[in-house]
Amino acid sequence: MIIVHTIQEIRQYVREQRAQGHTIGFVPSMGYLHAGHQSLLRAAKAQCQTTVMSIFVNPLQFGPNEDFDRYPRDLERDAKLAEEAGADIIFAPSVEEMYPRGGGKVLTHVDVEEVTLQLCGASRPGHFRGVATVVSKLFNIVLPDKAFFGMKDAQQVAVLQTMVDDLNIPVEIVPCPTMREADGLALSSRNVFLTPEEREQSLVLSRSLKKAEQLVAEGARDVHQIIEAVRGLIQSQPLADIDYVELLNFRDLSPILTLEQPALLALAVRFGKTRLIDNTVLTIE
Ligand code: PAF
Repeated sequence: MIIVHTIQEIRQYVREQRAQGHTIGFVPSMGYLHAGHQSLLRAAKAQCQTTVMSIFVNPLQFGPNEDFDRYPRDLERDAKLAEEAGADIIFAPSVEEMYPRGGGKVLTHVDVEEVTLQLCGASRPGHFRGVATVVSKLFNIVLPDKAFFGMKDAQQVAVLQTMVDDLNIPVEIVPCPTMREADGLALSSRNVFLTPEEREQSLVLSRSLKKAEQLVAEGARDVHQIIEAVRGLIQSQPLADIDYVELLNFRDLSPILTLEQPALLALAVRFGKTRLIDNTVLTIE
């Protein structure tokens, strides 16, 4: 596996692969890889002939009081995990390479409307503008046939699908299932920040999603009632501080009062300094 740091090198590599008739699968990431990223690489490997991973902690998608500086970074460790899961090349640019105007600055942004108004879009202003802008830059650099994203960031998938549709970007977005620890915690690079006590209490996230699934299976259809049951369970954990619990139409993330399917139950909860997200798509049997 190769590691390159410049746009010129990755473009040259992709050109050579295309000249051999290879399709390009792309897994954009911010590094500090876990089994979730590895499952995206494996999906890319299964569907495309060449697998490109980018590792770039994008300053544009972090708010001023967020964890950009303390976001975990370890390229050596990432390279081992990426190679193990089948990556052919890692593109790991510097901030200057991606944002040569300096300080993570660009004059052109990609703003996706409506699907960015709720959930993480509401609690992290500017976040999805940063994501859509960097991902469109990465798509223009790598020119992939397919790009693979985890469903843990369900809103990110909706935002990027909207961007690709509206701007006619010739790439297929492939959503992949959330990977979990054996005890249910959704894999995230931020899990390393949890203290043992927070880690224990964070299990309430997957438990509350299961509870909602169970309520729906038993016939619950009232959105308010389902949300209150989820909130109640999360609040039973003293270290859990709810950012949001929302149940929305899964296609356009618009509000719903009665369960229509498919519906997205999404939550964001802080444990100490660490903000975790999780979600499930609720379907009526
Ligand atoms: O999901 C992520 O890791 C990031 O938001 C992404 C898509 C790599 C853009 O920086």
